[in-house]
Amino acid sequence: MAKNKIVVAYSGGLDTSVMVKWLKENYDAEIITFTGNLGQTKELIGLEEKALKSGASKSYIEDLTKEFIDDYVFPALRAGAMYEETYPMACSIGRPLLAKTLVDIARKEGANMVAHGCTGKGNDQVRFEVAVGALAPDLENLAPLRTWEFKSREEEIDYAAKHNIPVLVTKENPYSIDENIWGTAIECGVLEDPMVEPPADAYQHTVSPEEAPDVAEYVTIDFEKGIPVALNGVAMESVALVKELNKIGGRNAIGRIDMIENRLVGIKSREVYEAPAGMILHAAHKELERITLDKAVAHYKTHISQEYANLIYNGLWFSPLREALQAFIDKTQEKVTGMVKMKLYKGNTIVSGRKSPYSLYDPELATYTAADQFDHKASEGFIKIYGLPYKTINRVMQKANATKKDVA
Ligand code: ARG
Repeated sequence: MAKNKIVVAYSGGLDTSVMVKWLKENYDAEIITFTGNLGQTKELIGLEEKALKSGASKSYIEDLTKEFIDDYVFPALRAGAMYEETYPMACSIGRPLLAKTLVDIARKEGANMVAHGCTGKGNDQVRFEVAVGALAPDLENLAPLRTWEFKSREEEIDYAAKHNIPVLVTKENPYSIDENIWGTAIECGVLEDPMVEPPADAYQHTVSPEEAPDVAEYVTIDFEKGIPVALNGVAMESVALVKELNKIGGRNAIGRIDMIENRLVGIKSREVYEAPAGMILHAAHKELERITLDKAVAHYKTHISQEYANLIYNGLWFSPLREALQAFIDKTQEKVTGMVKMKLYKGNTIVSGRKSPYSLYDPELATYTAADQFDHKASEGFIKIYGLPYKTINRVMQKANATKKDVA
C-alpha cells in the first residue's frame, strides 16, 4: 500500500499530467485527480481516461457551474467587486470553490495531501493554499511546480514520453489561458510587452469593435435583491442567463479588458481579460443601485466593494472579514430590485434606462417644471450654514493678517 494519498487539482494539461506520475513516484502515493467544471467552453471529454493513464487510481470530474454562479459569482457581483476598479474577478473567484471541492474530495477519500499545478509566481498558488488551509488545516498542500527538477516544457515532455504519460503535443499556444463562465484571462507571449496591442488571436470569445454590427443591440436585465433573474423580459436560470449574455456581449465586442495589474506576490503583470456578461451585469447592477440605494449607503459601499474585491483577489474568501462584509452587502441589496436597459454598441456598454418599485428618484423633487415640489427658499438657510466654516476661515485669516502688519 502507498504511504500517502494525494488529491490533485487536475486540468489534463502538460503540467498536471506530468505531476500525477511525478507525485506518485516521489511521494510513494496513491493519486486521485479532481477537475472542476466552472462553465468553461473547453471540453472535459476524455479527461478521466487521461488521468488514469497518467497514473491516477481514480478521477473526479465535477460540474460546479451552478454553484459557482450562485454562491461565488453573483455575491461578487452584488458586492460590486472589481479588482483595481477594472477586473471583474473571473479567475480569482473560481479558486475558492475549486479549493473547497478539492478538500471535500480529500475528506471523502481519506487523503492526507492535496496538490495543485499553479506556478510559484502567481496569485493562484496563494488562493489555493490559503483556502485549503482555512478549510482543512491538517491537510498538507503540495505545489510541485515550485520544487520539481524540470526547467522547461521540453524536459516535462521528455519525462512524459519516458513514462508513457499521454500528452497532446500540439503546436504550443502562444498564450496562457484560464477560462470559466465569468471570464477568460489571457497572458504571456507578445502580451508581456505592455506597448503591444493584443493581437486578434489573443481574444477567444469576443469580436473586435470593428467587426461588431453597425446597429446597436438593446438588452434589458431584471434584478431581484441584486441578483439577475431575467434577460429581455424572460425569466432565466442563472447559468443560462450568464451564458446567453456572454454570447450577446461577445458579438458586440463587449468585455475586453487590457490592464496592468498588481499581483499579490509583488509583480506588476499585463493581463488581458474577456468578460462580456460580467461587464454588462456590473454596469447594469451599479445603475440599479444608483436609483435604489440612498446616498450614504451608496458612497460607503464603494469602500466595501474595494475591500471585498481585494479579499477575493488575495485569496481570503474563507475569512471572517469577507463574511462580515458579506453581511453588510446582503443588507444593502434588499431593495436592489428592478430593471435596467442597456445599449450595446461596438464595445460600449451604455445604460439607457432604469426602473424599480423601490426607486428613490422622486420626479416632483427633480423636475424643473411647474410640478416642482422642492422648497427653493429652504436652500438659502442651508447654504448659509453649510458654507459658514469657509466664510469663517477667510474672515479670521484677514483679521490675523491685519494684526501681523500692525505689529510689523
Ligand atoms: N491575474 C489573474 C488573477 O490573478 C488571472 C490569472 C490567470 N492565469 C492564467 N494562467 N492565465 O486572477
